[in-house]
Amino acid sequence: MSDAPKRPPLLPLSNASTSGPFGSGVSASSVSASGASVPGASSPGVAPAPLTLRASAGGERPDGNFYESVGGRATFERLVREFYRGVATDPVLAPMYPETDYEGAIQRLTGFLEQYWGGPTTYSEQRGHPRLRMRHMPFRVNPDARDRWLLHMREALDTLGLSPLQESTLWGYLERAAHAMVNTFEE
Ligand code: HEM
Repeated sequence: MSDAPKRPPLLPLSNASTSGPFGSGVSASSVSASGASVPGASSPGVAPAPLTLRASAGGERPDGNFYESVGGRATFERLVREFYRGVATDPVLAPMYPETDYEGAIQRLTGFLEQYWGGPTTYSEQRGHPRLRMRHMPFRVNPDARDRWLLHMREALDTLGLSPLQESTLWGYLERAAHAMVNTFEE
C-alpha cells in the first residue's frame, strides 16, 4: 500500500486553443514576428507567415494586459510620435514616408501597436488585416533601412521610462518585427 497522496487528474489545457479573438489560424506559436523563426512555418519559396494581430493570440497573457500596464494608448502614441520625429530627420527613411500625411502614418502605426498589445481593434476595423510584410513591399526595406528604423525606435522607447521588463518585452518584439520586414538585400 502506498501512502502517496492521490492527485486529481491534470486538467485539459482547454484555453490553449489556437482560436484567438480573430478566429482560428492565429496561433500562439506565431507570436514571433518572423515566420522564418517559427519552426515549420517557413520553407524555401514560401512567404513568411503574416505578423500576428495580437500578442495574446491563443489566450490571455500570463502577465495580464500589456497594453494597460504600460499606460494604454497614450504610451503608444508617445512612442510613435517620438519615433517619427527621428524618422523625419533620417535621410534614408524620411523620403519613404508620405510628406503630407505624417499624422496619418502616426495614427496607423499607433493603432497597429495598440491592437497588437491588447488594446482596441480600431486598426483592423479601419485597415483590415495588417499583412505588414505585404504592405511594406512597395518600400525598399534593406538591412540599412531596418537598422535606421530600429535606431529611431530605440531612441523613442528610451524616452518612455518603462520598467526594464516592459521595455525588453516591447523591444524584443519590435526587433523581431523589423527583421521580418526586410524585403531586399540590395543597397
Ligand atoms: C524595418 C524597417 C521599416 C521600414 C523602413 C518601414 C517603413 C514603412 C513605411 C514607409 C510605411 C508607410 C507609411 C504610412 O503611410 O503609414 C510603413 C507603414 C507601416 N509600418 Fe512600417 N516600416 C518598417 C518596419 C515596421 C515594423 C517593424 C512594424 C511593426 C512593428 C511596422 C508597422 C507599420 C504599420 C502598421 C504601417 C501602416 C500600415 C497600413 O495600415 O497601411 N513597420 N512602414
